[in-house]
Amino acid sequence: MTVLFINTCVRKQSRTLQLAQYFLEKWNDPDIIEIHPENENIRSLDEKTLHIRDHALYENDLDHPVLKYATQFAKADTIVIAAPYWDLSFPAALKVYLERVNAVGVTFYYDETGYPHGLCKAKRLVYIATAGGPLISDVYGYGYVRQLCETFYEIHETVHFIAENLDMPDTDVEKSLADVRTKMDEWFKQSA
Ligand SMILES: Cc1cc2nc3c(=O)[nH]c(=O)nc-3n(C[C@H](O)[C@H](O)[C@H](O)COP(=O)(O)O)c2cc1C
Repeated sequence: MTVLFINTCVRKQSRTLQLAQYFLEKWNDPDIIEIHPENENIRSLDEKTLHIRDHALYENDLDHPVLKYATQFAKADTIVIAAPYWDLSFPAALKVYLERVNAVGVTFYYDETGYPHGLCKAKRLVYIATAGGPLISDVYGYGYVRQLCETFYEIHETVHFIAENLDMPDTDVEKSLADVRTKMDEWFKQSA
């Protein structure tokens, strides 16, 4: 079983990464592929890259480097995303990464009515986040990723673990993180 771990945490002391590491230790899968989009230096799609990608897809050259992130995503058994809550959303590096993942013919395809269908192997995506304040809306963060899973990838089980209010003066940060770890423990018990 391959776990694809998409790590978009940027701070050395990242609380989101701490939670993700706890989750992955519990998952205990020897086959974890970690992608750090920030370090991969993935650029947003421009005209030249779109052309190269369209050509690779036309030739069905799925091993082409331009399709690397899409093929890796499509083949993974489980996907774990660690993303701090930034500007009601997530770090831009994750959006750029997802732009590469959304390749027609690799992670999804359109039927004759124009409706998308998934080509991904994964049954489940786990999204781990922390927020400085309350989660005012998850529409542009976890909600967006969940919608991609539902509409494009057809990954039907999505799970959201989040610790909120971590930057608020009255918050006991360690307790908040421990509470999320307990939720993870409960989830593991239910999913076993
Ligand atoms: C660029 C940036 C944008 C942020 N935007 C929000 C926000 O919209 N809402 C919020 O509650 N916290 C926001 N925060 C606070 C982070 O969500 C919070 O500190 C989080 O725990 C950081 O995760 P980390 O410890 O994994 O780095 C922001 C922090 C940064 C650096």
